Amino acid sequence: MKQPIGVFDSGYGGLTILKDMVELLPHYDYIYLGDNARAPYGPRSFKTVYEYTLQCVKWLFNQGCPLVILACNTASAKALRTIQQRDLANIDPAKRVLGVIRPTAEVIGGYSQSGSVGVLATKGTVVSESYVIEIKKFFPNVKVYQEACPIWVPLVEYNEHHSKGTDFFVKKHIDHLLHQAPAIDTFLLACTHYPLLKDKIREYTPADIKIISQGSIVAGSLSDYLIRHPEMENRLSHGETVDFFTTDSVSDFDEKATLFYGRHVNSVHVNM
Ligand code: DGL
Repeated sequence: MKQPIGVFDSGYGGLTILKDMVELLPHYDYIYLGDNARAPYGPRSFKTVYEYTLQCVKWLFNQGCPLVILACNTASAKALRTIQQRDLANIDPAKRVLGVIRPTAEVIGGYSQSGSVGVLATKGTVVSESYVIEIKKFFPNVKVYQEACPIWVPLVEYNEHHSKGTDFFVKKHIDHLLHQAPAIDTFLLACTHYPLLKDKIREYTPADIKIISQGSIVAGSLSDYLIRHPEMENRLSHGETVDFFTTDSVSDFDEKATLFYGRHVNSVHVNM
């Protein structure tokens, strides 16, 4: 039986992370689950995001995944700790769930010369203050400024990320963030959907500000994790397959997933 790496997101965003993982670590099997029927998670309460995320993690465990990556900042911010500290012991203490916030926080301060980092994220991630708390642990002198961009995920989910109307909302949030602290020299795209907006974000961002997305950071961190944890690495199957599942329409998923993943995909529907 396959023992794949499970990759979870509320919708399509996690595909931007999966793409980098498969590129860096192609020999494993992967299962991607997008909870498209209940996306976006960004505006939802802690309790709801936690419950949805836990259901999806359990489903991935039931497919044989010994390791699940929450490729969603909102789920990582609102559900990861409880799942790691409370639920895993009851479900299966040998399984693991990892998120995207800590690996990003470990490196993001290193990109900034001015010591001021701007975090663009969903409302849920911003309100959780997870990035402020985690970055402080690794870079105590780095100042973190946050901007919630609630409309960006729907714009991407509805395939409007190249539309002219999107420019207004991209510029609005970048201006707000820079207004808080003109010294910011690094933008972190702390939502896995935002890489799809990168061209527009670049257009409205001063040229000397770096724009960092998470795919290669998270993929690199997974690779390090598997080197440090041979007991987990040994459990993973090496079939080089990637299977896609969505809680919503498969035709919609396949059409849009191609944009995020850069390749044609054939998904299977799952009821959650
Ligand atoms: N892709 C998710 C993240 O990284 C958010 C999308 C959503 O709001 O559902 O935060």
